[in-house]
Amino acid sequence: MYPESMQESIKRLEATREERIKQGRIPLLNAEEKKALLKSFHPDYIDTSMRALTVGPNKGDRTPHEIADLLEAWPLVEPKRFDPDKPKFDVDVLIIGGGGAGVSAALTAAEHGAKVLLSTKLRLGDANTMMAQGGIQAADKENDSPERHYLDVLGGGHFKNIPELARALVTDAPGVIAWLEGLGVMFDKKPDGTMITIHGGGTSRKRMHACRDYTGAEIMRTLRDEFRNRGLEVIEFCAALELMTDEKGVCTGAAFVNLDTDELFTVRAKTVILATGGCGRLHIQGFPCTNHYGATADGLVLAYRAGAKLAFIDTIQYHPTGVAYPEQIVGLLITEKVRGLGAHLVNVHGNRFIYELESRDITASAIIRECVGQKNGVVTPTGRLGVWLDTPLIEVLKGQGAVKANLPAMYHQFARFGIYMDKEPILTYPTQHYQNGGVLINQWGETGVKNLYAAGEVAGGIHGRNRLMGNSLLDIIVFGRRAGRRAAEKAKAIGTVSCGFKHVIAFEQELKNARIPRDRCSPLLLPDYRRAGLQTPFAFVG
Ligand code: FUM
Repeated sequence: MYPESMQESIKRLEATREERIKQGRIPLLNAEEKKALLKSFHPDYIDTSMRALTVGPNKGDRTPHEIADLLEAWPLVEPKRFDPDKPKFDVDVLIIGGGGAGVSAALTAAEHGAKVLLSTKLRLGDANTMMAQGGIQAADKENDSPERHYLDVLGGGHFKNIPELARALVTDAPGVIAWLEGLGVMFDKKPDGTMITIHGGGTSRKRMHACRDYTGAEIMRTLRDEFRNRGLEVIEFCAALELMTDEKGVCTGAAFVNLDTDELFTVRAKTVILATGGCGRLHIQGFPCTNHYGATADGLVLAYRAGAKLAFIDTIQYHPTGVAYPEQIVGLLITEKVRGLGAHLVNVHGNRFIYELESRDITASAIIRECVGQKNGVVTPTGRLGVWLDTPLIEVLKGQGAVKANLPAMYHQFARFGIYMDKEPILTYPTQHYQNGGVLINQWGETGVKNLYAAGEVAGGIHGRNRLMGNSLLDIIVFGRRAGRRAAEKAKAIGTVSCGFKHVIAFEQELKNARIPRDRCSPLLLPDYRRAGLQTPFAFVG
């Protein structure tokens, strides 16, 4: 139910619908126009939002203050409180993170004969994978090819992507779909059994495979079932606080806290895979986010202290369409599939202002320009700004019932608040969605620290400066499996390893030299939404 103050604008949107349908597709922006739009309105271009790091492997590189505050921070628990010589677990491959990348890595490492342990600070499957909606890209149709997919990936990333990573992504993609289907993922299909594929922003072919609008949940359900059915070992509610290394700086395990009991313990491992996801819950520049509660950049912190270089840490993805109303669900994702099905973006006056399937950074910037620059946004009762997504238009274009059939989860999300998106539009504004950068990897998921691998959102370089829709669900599986395989093979050639925290001690010296305040600690583990007066440190802070 919309308040009266917003209904006037809905009437204007309805009045222009027919004219907008006749208008057809708005022309794409040219390269110069895109550059100018990004520069003026994309949050990454606000100079004061970032600073240069003063410590660590990326010293001198700029990153948002929220990330810098965690990278330039002291250990949450002093290393001397751990006993690396008495590990609680001793395994071949330790995987930190229980989302799609971590579970894919675990399944693959186990298939390659490794004794595997997966740790997660929440529950198995509590991850951004579970929240992904729109789909997963793969060039597996006759009119498409991995080469074409590659060009789209590079175009979306402003040609900054690391080529061999983009190449691995698109080359493995058709096999990933087949693997997932084999495990039981129920992809949308036509009555004759062929996969339904649609466009996403920046795609030159329809290659988005989906499970309605809950693709990530379906994939995560399947992966988690497989993990459990194979009897693989997991420790839940156990947060990694540091990596461990040997005398030469080779990664040999990690140190943990059990969040239920405060127990501190270590895991010795021949190889370690970081699959800790992204940083949405840092709320960069105060943006709301689409991410789950564990997305607090822990993996970046751990890898950085161990000496791993990060890539593209000055670029964050703001999904163009987060919820702007009602207030209870502000920031949650409105899948790009809504625009893929034909919904127009419309301002307060009922006018379109951008081709809806431009790549994400462009569309997000155009919405910000419309609301903040041009003052053409709709104002909510709490003072938020937004533009409409004309969702009833989907019923006009695709037939009655198309909204409920294609977007059942989204339909219910809004219906709970008395908004019926097949009959009335929904209000949207950009929301923090994805960290484009991360720990620099090669095509096998190897980081700059020996025997440390990274997969999924924690890794950087694949998507350059902007990821296209559906390439994240893809990259978690591609690089999860690659890292899992490589880490298992590598572990076979390694004997007993020694563990310690020399790298942490060295990093602490850098922090001291840079005069980083002692009360700034990381990893964050969970966002702190308590009122300032109520803040108390973790019971185990040493
Ligand atoms: O819009 C979406 O459904 C998001 C997909 C993605 O980030 O890949």
